[in-house]
Amino acid sequence: MTYHNSRHLRLLCLTLFLLISFTAADDAAVMQKFSTSLSPAPPTWTGTDFCTWEGINCDKSSRVTSINIASKSLTGTLPPEINQLSQLKNLAVQRNFLSGDLPTLANLTLIEQVILDTNNFTSIPPDFFTGLNNLQNFSISFNSDLSAWVLPETLSENSNLQSFQASNANITGTIPDIFDKLPNLQNLRLSYNNLTGNLPPSLGGSQIQNLWLNNQLQGLSGTLDVLSSITQLSEAWLQANAFTGTIPDLSNCTILFDLQLRDNQLTGVVPQSLMSLPKLANIAIQNNKLQGPLPVFQPRVTTDLGTDTNSFCLSTPGPCDPQVTALLEVAGALGYPMSLAQSWKGDDACQGWTFITCDSSGKNVTSVSFGKQKFTGTISPAFANLTSLRSISLNDNNLVGPIPKELTSLPNLQLLDVSNNNLSGEIPEFPKAVRFTDGGNPQLGQDSPSGTPGSGSGPTNTTGSPPGSTKSSSTGMIVGIIIGVILFIVIILFVSYKCYIKKKTQNVKNQEKGKALVKNDDVEVGVVNKLQTQGSVDKEMSVFEGGNVVISIQVLRQVTGNFSEENILGRGGFGVVYKGELHDGTKIAVKRMESGVMGTKGQKEFQAEIAVLTKVRHRHLVALLGYCINGNERLLVYEYMPQGTLSQHLFEWRVNNVNPLNWKQRVSIALDVGRGVEYLHSLAQQSFIHRDLKPSNILLGDDMRAKVADFGLVKSAPDGKHSLETKVAGTFGYLAPEYAATGRVTTKVDVYAFGVVLMELITGRKALDENLPEDKSHLVTWFRRLMVSKEDIIKVMDQSMKIDDEETLESISKVAELAGHCTAREPYQRPDMGHAVNVLGPLVERWKPSRNEEEDGYGIDLHMSLPQVLERWQADEGTSRMFDDSFSQTVSSVPSKPSGIGDTFDSMDCR
Ligand SMILES: *[C@@H]1O[C@H](CO)[C@@H](O)[C@H](O)[C@H]1NC(C)=O
Ligand SMILES: *[C@@H]1O[C@H](CO)[C@@H](O)[C@H](O)[C@H]1NC(C)=O
Ligand SMILES: *[C@@H]1O[C@H](CO)[C@@H](O)[C@H](O)[C@H]1NC(C)=O
Ligand SMILES: *[C@@H]1O[C@H](CO)[C@@H](O)[C@H](O)[C@H]1NC(C)=O
Ligand SMILES: *[C@@H]1O[C@H](CO)[C@@H](O)[C@H](O)[C@H]1NC(C)=O
Ligand SMILES: *[C@@H]1O[C@H](CO)[C@@H](O)[C@H](O)[C@H]1NC(C)=O
Ligand SMILES: *[C@@H]1O[C@H](CO)[C@@H](O)[C@H](O)[C@H]1NC(C)=O
Ligand SMILES: *[C@@H]1O[C@H](CO)[C@@H](O)[C@H](O)[C@H]1NC(C)=O
Repeated sequence: MTYHNSRHLRLLCLTLFLLISFTAADDAAVMQKFSTSLSPAPPTWTGTDFCTWEGINCDKSSRVTSINIASKSLTGTLPPEINQLSQLKNLAVQRNFLSGDLPTLANLTLIEQVILDTNNFTSIPPDFFTGLNNLQNFSISFNSDLSAWVLPETLSENSNLQSFQASNANITGTIPDIFDKLPNLQNLRLSYNNLTGNLPPSLGGSQIQNLWLNNQLQGLSGTLDVLSSITQLSEAWLQANAFTGTIPDLSNCTILFDLQLRDNQLTGVVPQSLMSLPKLANIAIQNNKLQGPLPVFQPRVTTDLGTDTNSFCLSTPGPCDPQVTALLEVAGALGYPMSLAQSWKGDDACQGWTFITCDSSGKNVTSVSFGKQKFTGTISPAFANLTSLRSISLNDNNLVGPIPKELTSLPNLQLLDVSNNNLSGEIPEFPKAVRFTDGGNPQLGQDSPSGTPGSGSGPTNTTGSPPGSTKSSSTGMIVGIIIGVILFIVIILFVSYKCYIKKKTQNVKNQEKGKALVKNDDVEVGVVNKLQTQGSVDKEMSVFEGGNVVISIQVLRQVTGNFSEENILGRGGFGVVYKGELHDGTKIAVKRMESGVMGTKGQKEFQAEIAVLTKVRHRHLVALLGYCINGNERLLVYEYMPQGTLSQHLFEWRVNNVNPLNWKQRVSIALDVGRGVEYLHSLAQQSFIHRDLKPSNILLGDDMRAKVADFGLVKSAPDGKHSLETKVAGTFGYLAPEYAATGRVTTKVDVYAFGVVLMELITGRKALDENLPEDKSHLVTWFRRLMVSKEDIIKVMDQSMKIDDEETLESISKVAELAGHCTAREPYQRPDMGHAVNVLGPLVERWKPSRNEEEDGYGIDLHMSLPQVLERWQADEGTSRMFDDSFSQTVSSVPSKPSGIGDTFDSMDCR
């Protein structure tokens, strides 16, 4: 651009600015305030024409409509004045270090999206959500420094909400009963808080698809019954709470595919309907008190049933002993009380079950004594199947309903005590030999208007108030009136429910579009915009501006001893990796890619991609710190991982003279990798597919904890370069069949590769070993052929691990099962990474019961903040001109035009 042109432009800008400053004075003042409250403000946030600032969008009259400063390593606060930006539709400030009290956004009636997650805000005002009538998407997850807050009832006024996410946000109190007023809500994510109380009834009938309420500090309680009427439910994460009662009948939740119920207090028999859910793919129910036969799911379903951690009668599928079956039915009529679920384990009721006595042979149950247990529910007719019973004591509980007439058929019954309950209905006629006690049941034998003997086993029949056949006709009348009123209410409710449902079905059509929010598996590209479905907001969100990540070639020369041989850490992938050390001792790894490796890929495209990748931070991902373009050369700077690659430790430990990894280390590495990849797939605002997951891309720290490297870069490579000659990027042995065949890439490609890595960890063998005979050279084929049953694990596992205990073998076979599942032929049969993490987590925790372990996966690596690293660099070297404000001013002689990152690069590169 010539000087002449730019002067015109400048004049024009000035004129425009003067015009604008009259109409949009308010926004100008607010934006100035905003700019000063950030430290540092983004580099382009200078000058008065805020509409040209990076991340800001305005409408025609220069009112701010969108602010997107995601992932910019910013500190500072959000100023209270922000709620004067009355045209604001999008506020996205996620993944920074913003702190302080959140200002209220009350009355920003146009705002559609507010994303605040992964910051350090300290409080949220109670009126935050007031009047946000258009709010669709809200997220405040991972702000764990927030002072405790409760979900306000007034959230119900934000009736356009589609997604509400507030995990790790220090929420206390109960979940308000407002979901009937949020007909568009599809995602509700409140994991890792301190929510208590029951699931609110209005969740039933809601359109929620993703319900994540897992890991509450104290635990949500009550039953899960309401789930059965959330018919759009697709993912339900309710693990690590204090839910009680049975698993409800979910047969109307026809699209449910992931159900996480582990670590609760659930009791009772797993319902048959659960096993036939058509879409179910993952279920975890371990660590409950579930009873009855071991459930059997279809082969496509990944299960964690907790054979040992539940109270199933047998550890293999099949019916329970008849007496056990009958007793479970008895317990079922009482709502499967926890006290019974804890004690009634195994398939022999005579093995010390509480309240049960058996005959001298120790085979037949002779007595059931439930006296004074505060039990509620009814008396089950299944007592009649315990034919040896001599004594049944049910006195002093809160039982209701009739005394089943089947009990009269018990041949050996001598004693039946039902006194002091709330039973009703006919009293059956027992044989003379039975000592029958029924005092203290005011309604028993009182209200049988029809008076037909023999029909007495039904519940209290009081249709129409019976004209006083009993002594207390006044009580009868009162009961009648009450029942009348109840009937009336029921009818009213039913009618309004029908109307409501009708309205609902009209809404459903509009929501079809939004369904894509659930899974992004079908997307063809490696970088997936997670907010695809957000309409207009989407365009604003998908702009990813570059950050301060360019590093000068001089610095890199210096720190690597001019790329000396002795600093070479490894070769492969796309080039040579050198070790470097900054003056302060910080170690880095520099990957130098030979010219041409990047092929025809445009420089801009490369820059844009790197700019994104440098912002992906996770404890289990190797941080990309920066890059340099030097002529045809591309250099990438990573954090240094002292223990090198997993393949060095797994396959080359003899040569490298190190100890082989033990199982504990291996499974912990697997979990780390799983978490890193899970994050890539789903936790970041933007989702990546790694495409080349393998042990040489898994790096280890001194503590043998693993990080995944080279993510997102593989697609930068031209076809046919390195990684064997292949049309698709990736490495043979790790390629999912559909990827190899069609080049079609989804997150399931990584899941497959992860499965292969698991097999390598188990066997110590490479995915593809050309030195072995053909029938053994391909690990996946060999592994799947040999691992027919659990016992085969001995045959396949790496003999360098010295395994002698059952527990470890059990752990290995669980991982083997997961590996098989991950390498399923069809992508849809493979679980997602979240599931893999769920399976591996408990295996690691077995050795390391730290609570932090689970939160771990969500943390960003704050020790390696990019500005810190680079600041240090700048101070050390003083050559990285990118950060020198005066320099960029001289380069772009037109100060009124924002110096976008692309322009700056064009003129300076990193020479
Ligand atoms: C929002 O609007 C209401 C009603 O107009 C007003 O009372 C309230 O003060 C406003 N809140 C803020 C924070 O401006
Ligand atoms: C968050 O803020 C608190 C003080 O408000 C500070 O102690 C803490 O270190 C901050 N955390 C991060 C990750 O910046
Ligand atoms: C949650 O809020 C309470 C009360 O404000 C506070 O004491 C506690 O430290 C907060 N928790 C976290 C993890 O910050
Ligand atoms: C969690 O919530 C419960 C009930 O509201 C409260 O008693 C407890 O102190 C809370 N725990 C923490 C750590 O805030
Ligand atoms: C499933 O839906 C049908 C029709 O709405 C209803 O009759 C039935 O009771 C529901 N089943 C469950 C288990 O909620
Ligand atoms: C009880 O016995 C009857 C008849 O033998 C049988 O059909 C029924 O399934 C049994 N019920 C239970 C709970 O065992
Ligand atoms: C136990 O019950 C079975 C079947 O009800 C019966 O055949 C058997 O005689 C009983 N045993 C004893 C010791 O009463
Ligand atoms: C009550 O009893 C009458 C007469 O036997 C019968 O027609 C009716 O269905 C019963 N109602 C209920 C709710 O059981």
